[in-house]
Amino acid sequence: MPEKIGIKELEVLNIKWQLDHHFAKIQHRQEIVDSLNLQPGDVVLDLGCGPGLWSSMFAEKVQPHGRVIGVDIDARWIDYAVQASQENPFKEIIEYRIGDLHNLPFEDGTFDLVFVSGCSPYLADIHSAIEKQKRVTKKGGRIADRSWDGGMFFVHPISPYQEAKMMLAVAQAFEARRSDSYFDNYFGRKSHGIFKQAGLQDILTTSYAVQLVPPLSEEVKHYITGNSQFYAKIAAPYLSETELKQWCGHFDPSSDSYILDREDFYYCLLEVLTVGTVEN
Ligand SMILES: C[S@@+](CC[C@H](N)C(=O)[O-])C[C@H]1O[C@@H](n2cnc3c(N)ncnc32)[C@H](O)[C@@H]1O
Repeated sequence: MPEKIGIKELEVLNIKWQLDHHFAKIQHRQEIVDSLNLQPGDVVLDLGCGPGLWSSMFAEKVQPHGRVIGVDIDARWIDYAVQASQENPFKEIIEYRIGDLHNLPFEDGTFDLVFVSGCSPYLADIHSAIEKQKRVTKKGGRIADRSWDGGMFFVHPISPYQEAKMMLAVAQAFEARRSDSYFDNYFGRKSHGIFKQAGLQDILTTSYAVQLVPPLSEEVKHYITGNSQFYAKIAAPYLSETELKQWCGHFDPSSDSYILDREDFYYCLLEVLTVGTVEN
């Protein structure tokens, strides 16, 4: 029996990792925020807001009379977001609340935009979650989902063969635990179809190849190392000890095969943004 994937205890859910993740992709995230074409006065829900990093970016777009509400089920993130927003020049229009997206404490048709980043892959019933999001979105308002898709992932100079073995092992691990739908590593490719099934209109899906090239800051290295650890943990039951050791060595600064300081390093992964409109 494959070991149960303990995603919860991994580095990738630490605050420091979330912050480093955000700043590693800040240019790309700004591009996403710009593409949403928010207007001053818009009311935005940042659902599964984590440390609230997107909320701050939205606040800049909708100020001075708009509003941004960040909701997360985990009090740890909301505590951090509230603290951090004290420094934010638009703090007056940002509010954070602990809450579950299955039970949103808002009136029907409250928001111009409901934004969900990195949260949908964790939901056991995405269809019901989208219905809840539709309820709180204004008629003619939009829902946007930004998720990664673990099917595309390059780390050069790891050999494509070794990398393919890792990708296969990860896919095997997720396949083996499909019924226990705690995390969908391949959500990005599904969001367009899910929005269609939900009856959203004017659906636009954009795929982003997010790349990181040297020189890498310590924050970017931390982000990449956390991701490599996530892959190693998941794939472990399906790789030999040697294969696993080789993979981990590439991200271990004390190893001869460490790659994050190499000039030819190249890292690329796929993120998918899907935006749909709630029918008038
Ligand atoms: C990977 S983090 C993404 C955080 C942030 N949106 C970002 O992109 O930086 C996923 C977030 O979804 C939150 N989450 C998971 N299930 C949730 C639920 N049912 N209701 C509200 N938030 C949830 C988690 O607590 C976590 O903060």
